[in-house]
Amino acid sequence: MKTYICEICGDAYVGNDKPSQCPFCGAGKGFIKGGAEARPVVNETIEVNEKDRANLMETLDLEMNANAIYLCMAGKTDKYEIKAMYKRLAKIELEHAVIVTKILKIERPEALTKTCADSDVDNFNETVKLEDNASKLYATFAQEAQEDNIKKFFGALSIVEKEHIELIKEYL
Ligand SMILES: [Fe+2]
Ligand SMILES: [Fe+2]
Repeated sequence: MKTYICEICGDAYVGNDKPSQCPFCGAGKGFIKGGAEARPVVNETIEVNEKDRANLMETLDLEMNANAIYLCMAGKTDKYEIKAMYKRLAKIELEHAVIVTKILKIERPEALTKTCADSDVDNFNETVKLEDNASKLYATFAQEAQEDNIKKFFGALSIVEKEHIELIKEYL
């Protein structure tokens, strides 16, 4: 057993092998380091400029929104696999929101309540739209970022959201 640390969310994964994605925030293998060498974004002192702050606040809204929508979708399905999958996505999106609050050193906002469709297929299609929007937006935010940690965070998130589309497409 070894301790691995995710450089995006800072959480530890304990296991025999490095996971292919961070189980908490979904960041790819390249961001997961052996315990001693990890430099998590959330532990850095980051000078956040006005543009990055606005982008991070928009991210916080988007992630809190996605968290609530996925919990709604988890509640609608009668298939356990889909329920568990949406609960996992909701936790990952909440983790993204929490990372933003750590970077900005602000309080975590109250959880939202959102509505969603009754059918799994409608919810899958809505999920693809949400994730496609988020992935593209974060790619833009990564380009706009002046600060290395913020660039790294948005770059990692853009890929995580893109991978969520691949996951949902397995069900469509
Ligand atoms: Fe992570
Ligand atoms: Fe997210």
